[in-house]
Amino acid sequence: MEIIWYHPSQDPQVWLAGLRQRLPAAHIRHWQPGDAAAADYAIVRSPPPAMLAGRALRGVFAMGAGVDEILRQLRDQPQLLADEVPLFRLEDTGMARQMQEYATWCVLGWFRRFAEYRQQQQQAQWQPLPDRDRQTFTVGVMGTGVLGRSVLESLRQWGFPLRGWSRTPKAIAGVETFHGREQLEAFLSGCQVVIDLLPDTPDTRNLINHHFLHTLPRGAHFLNLARGAHVVETDLLAALDSGQLAAAALDVFQVEPLPATSPLWLHPQVTITPHNAAVTLPQEAMDYIASAILSLEQGQMPSGRVDRQRGY
Ligand code: NAP
Ligand code: GLV
Repeated sequence: MEIIWYHPSQDPQVWLAGLRQRLPAAHIRHWQPGDAAAADYAIVRSPPPAMLAGRALRGVFAMGAGVDEILRQLRDQPQLLADEVPLFRLEDTGMARQMQEYATWCVLGWFRRFAEYRQQQQQAQWQPLPDRDRQTFTVGVMGTGVLGRSVLESLRQWGFPLRGWSRTPKAIAGVETFHGREQLEAFLSGCQVVIDLLPDTPDTRNLINHHFLHTLPRGAHFLNLARGAHVVETDLLAALDSGQLAAAALDVFQVEPLPATSPLWLHPQVTITPHNAAVTLPQEAMDYIASAILSLEQGQMPSGRVDRQRGY
């Protein structure tokens, strides 16, 4: 079995050694430009077209949860990968816990007004602020897939009302669920915090715009753990400046790295992290990829297959 691997930034030594240990019968090589030799499986992140083109692959594994970039490539150049070749993505593999940590930190920080106390501290100001009401501090998660559900699960212990919004109907214990565009306004109205964990598809691009932000109650909070392409950043800035949004925490942006000229950097109500809310953990990811390849070799379809038409 021949496996090719390529990632623009991860350490090839870690991956090649880890994959060889897990799949001792396979030949695994670091794909380099010019390598057109046969391969059965490709393990990829932002693959150059030549890595996929003209190969009789039996499966492609993305080293991430979101597959928007590779799907965009395939929409532009469908000949790179035949429809019947399965494309897989990482489901959790250690990312869910990272998302839980990030979301919990933000939600509790906003609930307990820590940023406002930090500002008061800088003025040596001893001034208790009004407590927020837990019963009305509703937290809504957009996308109730692998990561969205795990975030909802971790927030349950704090007693906030929880909402989830997805494409298709869902039943989640202890969560008020909404689905589809027709229920988006009902979902947003009343959310004190909205957490984005949607995939980037043509349907979700620019979803978070002026109308969306003004459907939220005044003074709500927004956390983007998903993709920057969902947000119209000028509308977000206007909502923050007007007080419609009290604060935003952003891990992802329309343009990454976020340009130094972006007004988001210095906005007092914005917290920024460099697209590392949940990073790919090589050991966990390799455990999944190796076992999925073995399943395919035995004629079984592993979980994690991307629906290319649906876009996630
Ligand atoms: P997932 O399991 O595929 O879940 C996606 C969820 O989004 C599903 O509940 C789906 O609804 C919902 N959805 C899709 N399109 C929708 C639409 N048009 N309207 C409403 N709901 C829609 O994905 P995941 O593993 O949880 O990952 C979610 C995203 O997180 C990834 O795609 C990636 O972009 C992002 N991510 C970011 C980082 C980071 O570090 N910032 C790390 C990992 C992942 P249905 O259930 O009805 O299908
Ligand atoms: C990171 O953003 C991922 O999709 O895994």
